[in-house]
Amino acid sequence: MKFGKTHYISEITPELQGREVVVAGWVYRKRDLGSVQFLVLRDSTGILQMVAKEGECNEETLQAAKRAGIESSLRAKGIVRQDPRAPGGVELVLKELEVVGPSEDFPIKGKEGPEFLLDHRHLYLRSRRLQAILKIRAEAIKAMHEWFYKNGFIETEAPTIIEQVVEGGATLFELNYFGKKVYLTQSSQLYLEAFITAFEKVYTIQPSFRAEKSRTWRHLTEFWHAEAEMAWADLNDMMDVVEALVKYVAEKVVERRSEELEYLKRRFEPPDGRFPRISYDEALEMAQRKGSKLSWGEDLDTPSERMISLEFETPFFVHRYPRQSRAFYHMPDPKRPEVLLCADLLAPEGKGEIVGGGQRIHDYNLLLERIKEFGLDPSRYTWYLDLRKYGTVPHSGFGLGVERTVAWIAGIRHIKDAIGFPRTPTRTIP
Ligand code: 4AD
Ligand code: MG
Repeated sequence: MKFGKTHYISEITPELQGREVVVAGWVYRKRDLGSVQFLVLRDSTGILQMVAKEGECNEETLQAAKRAGIESSLRAKGIVRQDPRAPGGVELVLKELEVVGPSEDFPIKGKEGPEFLLDHRHLYLRSRRLQAILKIRAEAIKAMHEWFYKNGFIETEAPTIIEQVVEGGATLFELNYFGKKVYLTQSSQLYLEAFITAFEKVYTIQPSFRAEKSRTWRHLTEFWHAEAEMAWADLNDMMDVVEALVKYVAEKVVERRSEELEYLKRRFEPPDGRFPRISYDEALEMAQRKGSKLSWGEDLDTPSERMISLEFETPFFVHRYPRQSRAFYHMPDPKRPEVLLCADLLAPEGKGEIVGGGQRIHDYNLLLERIKEFGLDPSRYTWYLDLRKYGTVPHSGFGLGVERTVAWIAGIRHIKDAIGFPRTPTRTIP
């Protein structure tokens, strides 16, 4: 897969001193000293300094090096030379240079603001910063698949076009489906609840959609959602699973992407030990002590979550939120029906919620009652209710926001940078 190149940049080490190699990539930096041309070449694996010097290469190569603009694509043949001053301790003494795709006046020069960079996302993807973050993202997703596989979860897929409200009407994207009103899925949960009757433990990693008008650092209109559902599991089982999964993901990212974390200047230790589990009541009290005006019954808002989350060193669970603050499918606590058997996982350092989940209502009548209480149309939930009619079982599950998790691990401020092409209320291009 090298199409005429013999090495990726990461393979060019000081041990290759004196060897002739062919590399290919894009011009990352350049310095024109007339009779000496320095080019820094970037490929998917790293950067390499290359030098074209009068007397060491032919005139054609020197001219090609001079001509090659920032971000033009090149194929280069040269001799590896050790040089402690160069990145990676080597440079390439150029012999031949082929400009494959010229690039004149690359629009991103390094001082642009965030909106400009978002408008040019298709070009900004090449930045070493986004490369590092997106490699961390890929590693995190890979680790999730691994963890689920190792723990006996079957991967499933849920439809994107659906008829049911899952997380509340306020954030629904409506779609005209041959004259019928349908929605873009807010969560695959209801479908995973069907799959557990076949596979017991299931998961999916796919996009969810929210017509979320609030423009905050942690909201996208399309985000990737890692969701799992387990038959025969209660709220505590669900928290145990989330804890093990999140720890595994953090460990693997640190193990496999330390260079990228370092590039981002992120000092991140995978969390160790049990994640604290506090009740909503305790969390609310903490927030109130710090000045939050929330009263019992309201969901924790972003500022309150932030205040609480700054108090913790590792992720922590907040469980048993008030009945009126959460979606219809949550199981009320039999010992205290005004709260639900649900829990969020909040990341430390002010980040807040990265996972939401809990135990589901598995009783037919109670579920029907809650659907009506929420003003939802029961006829749209017939199949979902059926699951409670034919061999229902206690079950629990959760959804983990991929971008929020990556933002926490990589230490980035806005989740927009945790996905290649972010979707927000004002952005659907590129
Ligand atoms: O808390 P949420 O809304 O829970 C659900 O959707 C459940 N049905 C999941 C389940 O139990 N299967 O969303 C789950 C997670 C949140 O904790 C957050 O990390 C992420 O999804 N999330 C968002 N991420 C980015 N932008 C948004 N607008 C998000 N909304 C939720
Ligand atoms: Mg939530």
